[in-house]
This record gives sequence, structure tokens and C-alpha cells, in this order.
Amino acid sequence: MPLDQLSQTTSLFAPLKEQPLDVMLTLLNALRGDPRDGKIDLGIGVYRNDDNQTPVMRAVKAAETHLVATQASKDYISPEGDMGYIDRLAPIVFGEAGARDDRRLGMQTPGGTAALRLAAALIARGNPEARVWISRETWPNHALLMHAAHLQVIDHPYFDRATQAVQFDVMMSALEAARPGDVWLLQACCHNPTGADLSPEQWRAVTAFVARKGLIPLIDMAYQGLGYGLDDDAAGMRMVIDAASEAFVAVSGSKNFGLYRDRVGALWLQADNAAVARRARSNLIVLARSLWSMPPDHGAAVVRTILGDAALTTMWRAELDDMRLRIQTLRRDLAAVLPQLAPVARQNGMFSLLPIDRDRVIRLRADHAIYMLESGRINIAGLHSANLPTLCTALRPYL
Ligand code: LMR
Repeated sequence: MPLDQLSQTTSLFAPLKEQPLDVMLTLLNALRGDPRDGKIDLGIGVYRNDDNQTPVMRAVKAAETHLVATQASKDYISPEGDMGYIDRLAPIVFGEAGARDDRRLGMQTPGGTAALRLAAALIARGNPEARVWISRETWPNHALLMHAAHLQVIDHPYFDRATQAVQFDVMMSALEAARPGDVWLLQACCHNPTGADLSPEQWRAVTAFVARKGLIPLIDMAYQGLGYGLDDDAAGMRMVIDAASEAFVAVSGSKNFGLYRDRVGALWLQADNAAVARRARSNLIVLARSLWSMPPDHGAAVVRTILGDAALTTMWRAELDDMRLRIQTLRRDLAAVLPQLAPVARQNGMFSLLPIDRDRVIRLRADHAIYMLESGRINIAGLHSANLPTLCTALRPYL
């Protein structure tokens, strides 16, 4: 066969189809390429202050200064990462008593995304037949991460656009079709993209359901501290995993420590007993080694430094409280100007899903340079006193 034909038939790259960018990244590119003044960015989930900035948190800066002055080596740590970080973060995630449960073992991951990816890899290794149940409205990456491990994903109803609230009974009836050993990916708080969280009573019902059906909760807690506060935001998750024999908890330091680009996350697994947990974790370590080998150190070292110092911890908690209160105020302000959005004031965290269709989202972008996801998801933390009135004026005719 002539050489040029041979190279055609054996080309690795030629058969690949062009891939569209993820909705989030597409939006980010469109926004960055828009030359208009006064653009309003309500797209990607990044916290901004009233000056429309995402500053480094003061506690983070102080920890970084300390690290730069004292860090003596950049030698490798290990695939499980910085265990000092894990030990100090565990009480924030599980509470003091929950963190001492020896059936729960954690490791550092490059962001919450990698924690979910690692959980998916372990699920596929332990039970490739497990189906993963995910709310229909969710972070677009959830399904991608599960598919990357060749897991079957089933979406279930979650949000009622008309009432802007969780369709709890409809969701629970759909979940009746789950089989023992299936995984239920739940968001602990500040549901992305709806902002609509389960009430404590609904978490109790989910807890009983998970135990009765023998499901494995995989809880994504990416926004702890931005809803009601660190402990309240974790309360539902803690209740569910206390009643489950096996579970995963994936956490992120992107939002609550503002360490987005430093990729700070962790994955905990919970097994029936400590021996099984240790064995399962040895699998996590091998899987991590094949996925990223070792996680980046800097962000986790920052978190370890903050949580190992009482004054820095107090500073960090206060900054996080300020962020939460600012988001709550913006929610109330938006609902006060546009009563049609009253439910937004009852929702939590960075996101809400506006009751407008894709055409209107596109028109808001074309006519007013207001950027949100095509689903109607807005990042509340992208609002500030200067752009909130503009958004309300532009939005009013569409509601
Ligand atoms: C979001 O949903 O906007 C964030 O979690 C950022 C991301 O990586 O998608």
C-alpha cells in the first residue's frame, strides 16, 4: 500500500470529531470576546465582591506568606496528598465526632472534580453494574465524570421551574426504581444550578430511603459555608452517611477558600468497617496514581496552614460568613425588585435557575451584554450594587 494511503488508514487523529466546548467554557469565551462596556457576567461560578473582584482571601494570603517563608522543599508528597490537610479538614466536613469515625478515610484530590472522578473510578472497579442517579438539573460535569468511568447515569426529576422548588415527591417516586448498590449523587448544599436545597425534613426522608434501598450516597459538597453556614450546610450529608453503610463525600476548596485555580479538593469514602475502608482506600490510591499521580500541594498546604492556626481559622470563617451574607443580601435585593423571583430569596448559594427560556437568555446577551448559562442559571455572586438594577430592568419584561 502506498505510504500516503497507509498513513490515512492508520491515522489516530483523523477520525476524531470536532468537540464542542463545555457550556461553561463556551460562555466564558463569548464573554471574554465581547468588546462592550458594562458586560454583566453571571456565568461561571466564581464569587465576586461588590467591586466585581475575586480577591484572594486574607486568610489565604497570610497562609501563603507563611508557606513561602517556611517551605523547605518541593519534594513529592504522595498520591494521597497532604494528610495533615485531610486531618484538619475532616472536622469541618464531618463535625468533630464524625471525623473520628475510623470507617471514613480521606485523601487529597486536585479539586472537587477529581474527587468525583476518583469516586467514579472506584465505583466502576467495585461494581461496574452500579447505575449513578443524578438530578436532572445539575452541574454539567457530573454526567461527564461518571461517563468517563463508563458508568451508566440515570437522571431523576428534581426541580419544578414553575414553583422554583424541589419536586420532592416526584423525585422520590423516580428513585423507587433504583437497585441496591446503585449510587445516588446528591449535592450537600447550594444546589448547582437551582439553588434549591432539601429541607431538614426531606434530608431525613432521603436518609431513611437510602438505608431502606441499600443505595450508596456520593455526596458532592462543593459549596460548604455558602448556604447557611459550615455545619448547617453539611447537616443533611452527615445524616445520610451516618445511616448508610457505604458512602463517598467529595469536597472542594474552590469556593469556600477561594482557591479555584489551585485545585484543592478531597474525597472520603466510608465503608462498613475500618478494615474494608483501608482496603478500599488502597484502591483509591492506585487509581489516583494512574489518573494524576500526585495532587498539587500548594492549595492544600494553604488550607492546612489556615486550619492549623486559630487566628487564621477565625479570619477565614469570618470572610466566609461575609461571602455568605453578601450572597443572601443579593438574593433578597433581587427578589425585592422583581417579586416574580421571590423564590430566589429562599434559595441558597451561588446559583439560581431563572424561569426564562433559552431565547430570552440569548436576547439578554445580545441586547444587554448579560451573560448567563443557556439554562437560565445565574451566578448570584456576579451581581453587585452597580449591575443589579441593570439586570432587573433588562429582565422585567421577560418574567
Ligand atoms: C460552575 O458550575 O460554574 C463551577 O462549578 C465552575 C465549573 O468548573 O464549572
